[in-house]
Amino acid sequence: MNLQDTGSQCACGCQSGFDFTELDLFIEKVKDMQGNLIVILQQAQNIYGYLPREVIAYISKRTGNTQAKIYGVATFYTQFRLQPIGKNLIMLCQGTACHVSGSQEIEAAICDELHIADGDTTEDGLFTLNNVACLGCCSLAPVMMIQNASWEETYGNLTKEKVLDILNQIREKEAKEA
Ligand code: FES
Repeated sequence: MNLQDTGSQCACGCQSGFDFTELDLFIEKVKDMQGNLIVILQQAQNIYGYLPREVIAYISKRTGNTQAKIYGVATFYTQFRLQPIGKNLIMLCQGTACHVSGSQEIEAAICDELHIADGDTTEDGLFTLNNVACLGCCSLAPVMMIQNASWEETYGNLTKEKVLDILNQIREKEAKEA
């Protein structure tokens, strides 16, 4: 992640505080590709972790798409985030198989433990919870996937106890690495 939200001047000479060098190279590479806006937004999200206002303004300037159009695309697709996320992104499946297997109880357990609701990030920035549609492993329902910068893991056959155990293991790991 290359987030430099310092308010200082960036490498491209603008005053946003974001370094647009990597994004710029990518935009250059796909500039003639039809329907390139989605891949540009995907790449921007890979670089910055989410789609900050300044980055959307920059993409608008570079591609000629209005900011309204870019926000329209970014809010239409659930894959895009307009807010920064925590270090560990919990994607809790709320698809049909998971729903009938108790995903709502799992959600309640996560929310109680972390004091957040769907879409929120914990105060310490360690976790973000997102309810998502089917993760494609329904036989393991209920399922969640946790993603962070260096790993990604899918956890199935969840119970409240199992989820709390997983969250605690991640907290311990993070504390050791801090
Ligand atoms: S419904 Fe949850 S993985 Fe398919």
